[in-house]
Amino acid sequence: MTADLLLGLQWGDEGKGKIVDVLTSKYDIIARFQGGPNAGHTLEFDGIKHVLRTIPSGIFHKTAMNIIGNGVVIDPVVFQKEIEGLAKFNMDIKSKLIISRKAHLILPTHRLLDAASEASKGKAKIGSTLKGIGPTYMDKTGRNGIRVGDIELEDFNERYRVLANKHEEMIKFYDVNIQYNLDEMEKEFFEAIEELKKIEFIDSEEYINQAQRAGKTILCEGAQGSLLDVDFGTYPYVTSSNTTAAGACTGLGIAPNKIKEVYGIFKAYVTRVGSGPFPTELFDEDGETMARVGNEYGSVTGRKRRCGWLDLVALKYAVQINGVTQLMMMKGDILSGFSTLKVCTQYNYKGKAISHFPYNIETENVTPIYKEFKGWQADLTGMTTYDEMPIELKEYIEFIENYIEVPIKIVSVGPDRKQTILK
Ligand code: GDP
Ligand code: IMO
Ligand code: MG
Repeated sequence: MTADLLLGLQWGDEGKGKIVDVLTSKYDIIARFQGGPNAGHTLEFDGIKHVLRTIPSGIFHKTAMNIIGNGVVIDPVVFQKEIEGLAKFNMDIKSKLIISRKAHLILPTHRLLDAASEASKGKAKIGSTLKGIGPTYMDKTGRNGIRVGDIELEDFNERYRVLANKHEEMIKFYDVNIQYNLDEMEKEFFEAIEELKKIEFIDSEEYINQAQRAGKTILCEGAQGSLLDVDFGTYPYVTSSNTTAAGACTGLGIAPNKIKEVYGIFKAYVTRVGSGPFPTELFDEDGETMARVGNEYGSVTGRKRRCGWLDLVALKYAVQINGVTQLMMMKGDILSGFSTLKVCTQYNYKGKAISHFPYNIETENVTPIYKEFKGWQADLTGMTTYDEMPIELKEYIEFIENYIEVPIKIVSVGPDRKQTILK
């Protein structure tokens, strides 16, 4: 069987967790392919809200198997907390979750290096979640990393020590004042490693390929968003992995010709947390309203998310890179009540109108060109069919579909599983 792929098209937090949960009943396997505990994927049902970090968003379903793929970086300490958080729901997690031996481990010193690197950058900081993501992927590509499979080796502790010692030297190089107690952090780390060992480690690429041959259905779950991709995002203000479709091939061992549907998720407006350019960012009352009504605070760091109008130039770019076949529009309900809505259809780039996403989108180079829409006033959160929706919203949706040339198949009107409208 082919696999389907779900990923974010903006700067993350589009609502991926919610939709993976909604779609899981159609799949045998849910597989995370990149990122790590920088992600916070929110699911809401039965009046309870869950935020998942490393564990795939299919975990609340009875039958689906959840895989943490080789492209993911795992912090055993965060992972242990996630498992503990799920304990009260009486699920048999061990029978529903497996981890690739080739996934890399985030060491306590990776987190310290992240903090040191950010502190040394001053105003130019990335705005990292400080979870050690960048340093861990650096060790991976630098061929110094420690993988989950290494936990099974006799010399795991020595390997750990060698790398942690090297990191301590590197922290000194940054010449910034980072306070830490490594002994305590290591105690917590090794305790968490014991918890991690309770989950089965597998050769996930083999498992996935066997499952495909056996006709099983697979949904690959992306983290972050396409504009945070290390190659195609707003570099250097990006994360350190390929968040785009190609990341599913390298992060799970799925061949490109085995991927069928690519579900692209976007918010009806745009948010960004952390530093970096954001052409349609709002600094006025409209932006404040989006942040307040949309409760735009990071699910991992609690930081306020920057908000702005929908940017179709950036969205089309992301759709193109990922080969998106179906779009899903999230948080349409948050735009209820605006008298006028704006959508960016072109950039004024160094004095010329352009329709593509250029190398440099800093504000000094790019000014958005907007098309205005009449807003809608109705509350969408209780609606259950597309027919009920206000005409102004339908016009907004149809304009996006025509511009992007890909259909919007799901319109989400609230955080709950049930607030999901098929179009
Ligand atoms: P993810 O990282 O892509 O999974 O997204 P996050 O969970 O970080 O952020 C999305 C936030 O929006 C969460 O708090 C969700 O509960 C919430 N959410 C998702 N879809 C909708 C929607 O259609 N309407 C509203 N109001 N909230 C939504
Ligand atoms: P989910 O999966 C939103 C952002 C950070 C920072 C940059 C680099 O929940 O959509 P990192 O910690 O990776 O070094 O941070 O990327 N970022 C996210 N923003 N959602 C996420 O994940 C993010 N993961 C990282 O804020 O700007
Ligand atoms: Mg999130």
